[in-house]
Amino acid sequence: MAKSIGILTGGGDCPGLNAVIRAVARRSIDRGYDVVGVREGWRGLVEPLLVPLGLREISGILPRGGTILGTTRTNPYRLDGGAERVLENFKANLDALVAIGGEDTLGVAARLHGEHDLAVVGVPKTIDNDLSATDYTFGFDTAVWICTEAIDRLHTTAESHNRVMVVEVMGRHTGWIAVMSGIAGGADVILIPEQPLPMEEVCAQLEKRHRGGKDFSIVVVSEGYELEGLGEEGEVDEFGHVRLGQRGVGDAIARGIERRTGFETRVTVLGHVQRGGSPTPRDRVLATRYGLKAADLVHQGRFGRMAALHGDSIVDVSLKEATAELKTVPADWYEVARAFFG
Ligand code: F6P
Repeated sequence: MAKSIGILTGGGDCPGLNAVIRAVARRSIDRGYDVVGVREGWRGLVEPLLVPLGLREISGILPRGGTILGTTRTNPYRLDGGAERVLENFKANLDALVAIGGEDTLGVAARLHGEHDLAVVGVPKTIDNDLSATDYTFGFDTAVWICTEAIDRLHTTAESHNRVMVVEVMGRHTGWIAVMSGIAGGADVILIPEQPLPMEEVCAQLEKRHRGGKDFSIVVVSEGYELEGLGEEGEVDEFGHVRLGQRGVGDAIARGIERRTGFETRVTVLGHVQRGGSPTPRDRVLATRYGLKAADLVHQGRFGRMAALHGDSIVDVSLKEATAELKTVPADWYEVARAFFG
């Protein structure tokens, strides 16, 4: 009987998930494996929710956003007997699993491998780009592209109305999306969790720019930026993360700027637009390379590993190492952004 490989996508969706699914499935089907889609993240192994994935199911999915398998933030370790059910359902239906996810989904995979020797390999997904042990996660390039496009559009309306535009972007605890799209879009101030700037300094930069003859400005702020007076309250997901988009950091920054400088200010929260739609060519290629690598790791029986990008090469790293800590924005990246402040 052919061996079965399961594929699951967990956590927030992100452009490029379908490209990974296609690559894992194509290579594994070519090698004679049966490929099984695990629906809705870890929930699909708790229940179980399994569907056959053949050539017909993966046809045409390369450019499609989202995930044909569905996704949830289900954490089996938060459910009574959840991890045990995952292990039982795995044993009854699969020989190996490819888990595509960020720190939460892959953290569960690392734990199941470490504690129960689950035959799992990981693929690093997140628009946030905050997974250590890989240079880039897929989905990030698309999110940066979407934010840059939005910043370009906000420039023209800011200029017409002599306004300050505050743009709030995603990224949870790291400022990768803000820094990259802010540099690409020519932002005048960029605020990220790793490099707090006092409000006086933000306003001083904008006032300097306006004294120099410009009547409009763009401020990019990361949703996880800490601002005095903004609480950590709000809905929490199964991995204990607060819904940051609801905290209103962009709005608070905009109000602070307007009050202190008198410049008319508006805020745009880009939200889930950043995760929607078709992946960029770069993300399609990266996702495809990750998918082929994951299929190879399964074929070689090298479990507990994650596909990763180092420079231009696809390598593999330990899942445990990759999920041990978040990759934050280094100071020299922020210096590139800072050179254009004010
Ligand atoms: O981790 C990806 C991400 O898009 C973060 O940037 C954001 O904080 C979070 O997910 C939003 O989660 P949800 O889709 O549950 O609103």
